Amino acid sequence: MAEAMRKAFVTGHPIKHSRSPMIHGHWLAEHGVDGSYQAIDVAPRDFAEFLASMQANGYRGGNVTIPHKEAAFAGVARRDHAADEIGAVNTLWLEEGTLWGGNTDGHGFAANLDDYAPGWASRGPAVVLGAGGASRAVIHALKTRGLKDIRIVNRTLARAIELRDRFGAGVSAHEVAATAELLGDAGLLVNTTALGMQGNEGLPADPTLLPDHAVVNDIVYVPLETPLLAAARARGLKPVDGLGMLLNQAVPGFERWFGVRPKVTAELRAIIVADLVRKP
Ligand code: ATR
Repeated sequence: MAEAMRKAFVTGHPIKHSRSPMIHGHWLAEHGVDGSYQAIDVAPRDFAEFLASMQANGYRGGNVTIPHKEAAFAGVARRDHAADEIGAVNTLWLEEGTLWGGNTDGHGFAANLDDYAPGWASRGPAVVLGAGGASRAVIHALKTRGLKDIRIVNRTLARAIELRDRFGAGVSAHEVAATAELLGDAGLLVNTTALGMQGNEGLPADPTLLPDHAVVNDIVYVPLETPLLAAARARGLKPVDGLGMLLNQAVPGFERWFGVRPKVTAELRAIIVADLVRKP
């Protein structure tokens, strides 16, 4: 009997704007894999049942996005180290019948900087704007890459302090009013807040206060060039947009479900950029 078609999914609520089916669909075609990758809208109250029936429904695994990342963290049998550190799961897979949850967001973040700003991890202190779920993935990646001075700035200071306590040595928490001072000797500025997203136009920090060698990364990718990245470019700093994080976080899941490690190519990026232009 031929092996059954390999099936994977992305689940969220809503899910119709997800670019993941386009990314994985591209790789399935590129590698000639007999597989599918489907977007499935699951309401929060149905998520536990969805997880429980995943294997019976023939899925090898899938991606989990907003608002299910914490429920997935709680609902899996085993977790990888990154998921434990971040406190959220974005990738599910089965291993000999056991449901595993991992988190590849930190990998996606670091791989994107590797692609566009090689040497980024040794340029000096990092300033991270925001203290939500995305910020946890970024801080995990920064610690994994050996950064020793990570400065979290958040509108709600208490949330930054929570993350400082969670991640420990080398991580500090600051009020927005301290940002200018923190940027003066920073080698990396990362925006994880919603400021600068389409419909929320604003500058989360002033990149002209950074030193000349600093890298500026926005994890937002709609629009592709946020006001922060535009200001960084105008200042002559290296801007890195957020699309590469999305593309790179998809790599480990595809490899687990379909058995091939795919590449993030200029061709794939161009396909997603064209879609972002059509449907921002
Ligand atoms: P995510 O999972 O994308 O990180 P989140 O957990 O909702 O989303 O976190 C959103 C982050 O953006 C938070 O740091 C939030 O600041 P607060 O903790 O003070 O709420 C930040 N944020 C959202 N809108 C903002 C705004 N208008 N100005 C400043 N920070 C904002």
